[in-house]
Amino acid sequence: MAGPGGVAEGDLEAAGLRLSVTGEVATVSLARPERRNAMTGRTWEALAHVGQTLSDSVRIVVIKGEGPSFSSGIDLNMFRPGGVEGETSLVDRIADGSADDAELDTVIAGYQEGFRWLRRPDIVTVAAVRGHAIGAGFQLALSCDLRVLADDAQLCMKEPALGLVPDLTGTKPLVDLVGANRAMELCLTARTVSAAEARELRLAELVVEGAQLDAAVDDLAAALLAVPREAATATKELLRGAPGRTLEEQAVAERRAQAGRLTAMAAQAARG
Ligand code: ACO
Repeated sequence: MAGPGGVAEGDLEAAGLRLSVTGEVATVSLARPERRNAMTGRTWEALAHVGQTLSDSVRIVVIKGEGPSFSSGIDLNMFRPGGVEGETSLVDRIADGSADDAELDTVIAGYQEGFRWLRRPDIVTVAAVRGHAIGAGFQLALSCDLRVLADDAQLCMKEPALGLVPDLTGTKPLVDLVGANRAMELCLTARTVSAAEARELRLAELVVEGAQLDAAVDDLAAALLAVPREAATATKELLRGAPGRTLEEQAVAERRAQAGRLTAMAAQAARG
């Protein structure tokens, strides 16, 4: 059966996700609390599917975790022979020769789709993080536009400590937020960042007491919804593009976006 966002509920559940849509706000919950919301390839494919099938009426997407942790990152069984139930282990496929570099590229690109859509200009994405956000969990939080942390949040880019690199689109926002040197220090030591330090490093827009996390996210969503959608979309597009443009290019982009807004407002006024 299709869920509120148009995604089959059974598929989401099997992937460790839950989706609920209330008005213009969709909440995607990582829903494997007994595994501290460890994620598998299937989780990321399902997340991509949520993005592809999200109702047009949704303006805000909140990503949260059930239980004490946002996410403990990749399910470590993905790296063990036998893998995760119902999913072929990449390690097994490399060992038996069925996953060459090109195949790995395709598989990882598919996983990354679960993270990439969170930057879409027509929605604002908010990570509500309590407890651990490790590895892929930290990258998921980084993929969101805004992060609200409970004061017990602990962020860690664990991948290098496990012999890996962060590859779920988290390196770019990390560098954009904290700079290349600090990003290197965080990744190459794989140390844990507390909520208080995360705020200092601009990895969190807001840090609140754990009991206040849901209310703080609700308040933020309400404030975001108070701005007209088209203006919010155009502004997010401008801001997201700013780091890659020169001042002159950004000025051109601002003029173009404003002309679009003014034209739309004039058309609306003419319609009465
Ligand atoms: N993969 C698979 N199972 C996990 C994972 C994981 N990433 N994280 C936790 N679990 C399981 C535990 O094995 C445990 O299972 P059990 O009940 O059968 O013993 C259960 O979830 C609860 O975990 P605990 O460790 O008991 O919970 P605690 O709250 O004490 O600690 C923590 C939570 C810190 C997240 C810890 O579980 C941990 O360090 N997990 C591994 C984190 C990790 O290395 N992730 C990979 C990062 S790299 C990447 O994501 C690409």
